[in-house]
Order: sequence, then C-alpha cells, then structure tokens
Amino acid sequence: MDAILIKGGRALNGEVRISGAKNAALPMLTATLLVAGKFRFSNVPDLKDIESILQLLATIGAEVDRKGEEVTVDTRGVDNFEAPYELVRRMRASVLVLGPLLARLKRARVSLPGGCAIGARPINMHLDGFERLGAKITLEHGYVEAAAETLTGEEIFFDVPTVTGTENLMMAAVFAKGTTVLRNAAREPEVTALADMLNRMGAQISGAGTPNITVSGVDTLVPVSAEIIPDRIEAGTYMVAAALTQGNIRITGAEPDHLKPVISKLREAGAGVELAPDAITVTGSRPVSSVDIKTLPFPGFPTDMQAQFMVLMSIANGLSVITETIFENRFIHVLELQRMGADIQISGNHAMVKGAERLSGAPVMASDLRASASLVLAGLVAEGTTRISRVYHLDRGYESIEQKFGQLGANIKRISETASS
Ligand code: EPZ
Repeated sequence: MDAILIKGGRALNGEVRISGAKNAALPMLTATLLVAGKFRFSNVPDLKDIESILQLLATIGAEVDRKGEEVTVDTRGVDNFEAPYELVRRMRASVLVLGPLLARLKRARVSLPGGCAIGARPINMHLDGFERLGAKITLEHGYVEAAAETLTGEEIFFDVPTVTGTENLMMAAVFAKGTTVLRNAAREPEVTALADMLNRMGAQISGAGTPNITVSGVDTLVPVSAEIIPDRIEAGTYMVAAALTQGNIRITGAEPDHLKPVISKLREAGAGVELAPDAITVTGSRPVSSVDIKTLPFPGFPTDMQAQFMVLMSIANGLSVITETIFENRFIHVLELQRMGADIQISGNHAMVKGAERLSGAPVMASDLRASASLVLAGLVAEGTTRISRVYHLDRGYESIEQKFGQLGANIKRISETASS
C-alpha cells in the first residue's frame, strides 16, 4: 500500500486543470448497457473507480478500451446480467448497472453493496422504485435480483433526494410503457449530465436539475459520444487549498455554476474568488474568518466538500459549526485532524471547530475518499511532515493528486508503505 509524505507550510501558486467528474462518468458509463452499440467518451478521469466500472462492464460482456482520457465501450456483446460481489464490494456505485440492465434485459442480479465508512448507505429507494415500475425484487445470499416482464411508468416519490437512486430510476424508466415521474429527485449536475446523454440517445426526459423529472418511455435508443463534465469536488478541493495556504491558484476547466455554495462560503471566509468562463482563481488571505456550513443536497453545500472545508475552519479565527445532514458517519476525518492539533468537538451531526494557531504534521490514516483529501489539505498547511497512509482511498477519486499539488509548489511525494517502515 502507498503513503503520501507532505512537508507543509508552503503557499501554493500556479494553475491546475480539473479532470472529468467521477460521479458523472460512472452513471454515463453504465448507461451504455441500455443499447447495443459503440459509445465514445472523452475527458474521462484516470481513477480507480473508473477502472472498476470498466471491469464490471467487461464482466457483463461489453468491450471496453481506454486511450488516455478517451474511453470506448462496445455493448454489442452484452449477454450477462450479473454484477459479482468481488467487483461490487470494491465500489458501491456498481449498483448503477441495476437500472440499465433491468431496462434492457428485464433482469439484473447485483451483489448488495456493503455499507461504507461514511454510513450504511442503503439502496431501498432504488429497489422500491424498481418495484413501482413493475419489477419483482428478491434479496438472497447478499445479492439483489430484479426481474420484470414489462416495466410500466409510475410516479415515484423519494423520501430524500438520492443521487444514484435518481440516476438508476431514470435509466430503468427509459423503455417503460407510459410516463414515469420522479418526485423529490436529486438535482446534482451529474444527474443533469446523465439526462442530457440519455436524451441524445433518444430518451425523452424533462425536468433534470429540478425536483421533478419526467421520463416518457421510448422503444429504442442509439449509442452516442459524450464528454464528461468537470469534477466540481476536485475543483473545490483545490480552491480550499489556495485559501488554506495563502496561495493563488487558477483552476481551469471547472464550471463555476456547479460551485456556487463553495464559492460563497470561501468568500465569506475571506478568500478572494474571481470567476472567468472556464476558470476560477482563488487567493488565500489571513486571517481566515470562521463560517458555519450545513451540507444539503444540490444546490446546497455539498457533503463531499465538508471534510475539506473543515480543514480551513480548523485554522480560522473563531468558532465554526459544521452540520452534516446527508450521511450519519461523515466525521471520521475529525479524529485524524485532532491528532494534527485541530480543536474540534462533535455533538451529534454537528462539529464545533475552534480555529487553532496552526496544525502540526503527524502520521495519519485515510478512511474514505473525501476524508483522505482533507488530510492532504491539512498536511499542506501543517508545520512539519505529515504521512498519510492507505492512500488507495484517494486514488479512487483524485487523478494524479501529488503531481497536481507538486506543480503548485507543494513538497509532496508518494512512497510505498513497506519502504517507509
Ligand atoms: C452519491 O452517492 C455520490 N456518489 C456520493 O459521492 C455523494 O456523497 C452522495 O451522492 C451525496 O451527494 C456517486 O454519485 C457515485 P445518495 P449516493 O443516494 O447516490 C440515503 C464521493 O465521495 N439513501 O444521494 O450513494 C443515503 O444513506 C461519493 O464521490 C437511502 O436511505 O448518495 C444518504 O443518507 C461519496 N436509501 C442520502 O440518502 C437509498 O436508497 C443521500 O444518499 C439511497 C440513499
């Protein structure tokens, strides 16, 4: 296993290009299962999770090929409707094959994803939605099996907005007879990007980006080419890095409209944020002002930016209350930040962060994707050396993170754990 060594205290300056969004690429890649044909994708990030979904598509019978940021998927050979445990356990987003397999083959068998570090993360809303469309759902031996003679359009109400639930049901409904309406649907840009691709394939979806999405069933779809939208969470992570290290970073390829709450909170915290059509420039300053954040479904402050923003608040000049409303256990990074000198008290789903003079480098352990990003940020601003172990979590969602931070002036390198012991 690899570790990352960071010698903190340097201001980060320069330009960084944002990669394609992991959470947009995943559903767009599984949408290829809806029709037999050859798809081309550009701006696909080079991430472990993308490797996993391509492996899963190959297991189901598709032919996948990757050259740099271009990926082709040929689904003419898709003949299997099962997503095996050894692939799904590594990445819960594998459940995104359920909707398209059910729509195209009228059958799907996917290992139930286990929980993960940040919470139980059930998929009951996905399965209830499939049943509403007419599928029979059985759970046995850790697998969920969905089967349907026909799928019929229905009104489906989500108790809370679910990103992959909205994506799965949109895909399941494209061939359903009649009209499906998803109420209280997720409004994330990644949902809208998927709907845009499905519509270019011939689907009839309206309302993506609003809480009410309507899918009118069609008979056939055609394969398309698609470009992956930029990763708003990767962009937000580099924006926080500029604010943290009193640097000046020009983030290119980002979409400012996807980052409004993050931009607003960074400005409130005293950072300078200038917007251009496809670039965001962030300038850090001191003192950092303490601000409160509350994570909410899009367009609210993204839960995937909570851990990163907490690092900025840990060196701010007052008390900040961070409320996590999406996941029940998304404060794991707090324990590691405390070991670096952060003064944080947790009470329920609130974290009270009292700004400290400085953080100090320490050996820490990554636990989930965004928590590990927060440890990198803490290492960049801390005095001394930080060693982050289990960085495979990082590799799932951040492309070439040490190269990108290195180009901005960070003293950061990857080592193999065995070599370092
Ligand atoms: C997506 O996960 C993202 N993953 C997550 O990003 C992100 O944190 C999350 O949305 C929230 O924005 C992908 O898009 C691949 P949800 P998802 O269904 O779809 C509960 C990252 O770092 N819920 O929107 O799994 C659930 O427990 C990852 O890239 C049910 O109870 O999240 C949570 O409390 C981490 N039953 C809330 O809804 C269900 O059937 C929102 O979850 C589904 C969800």
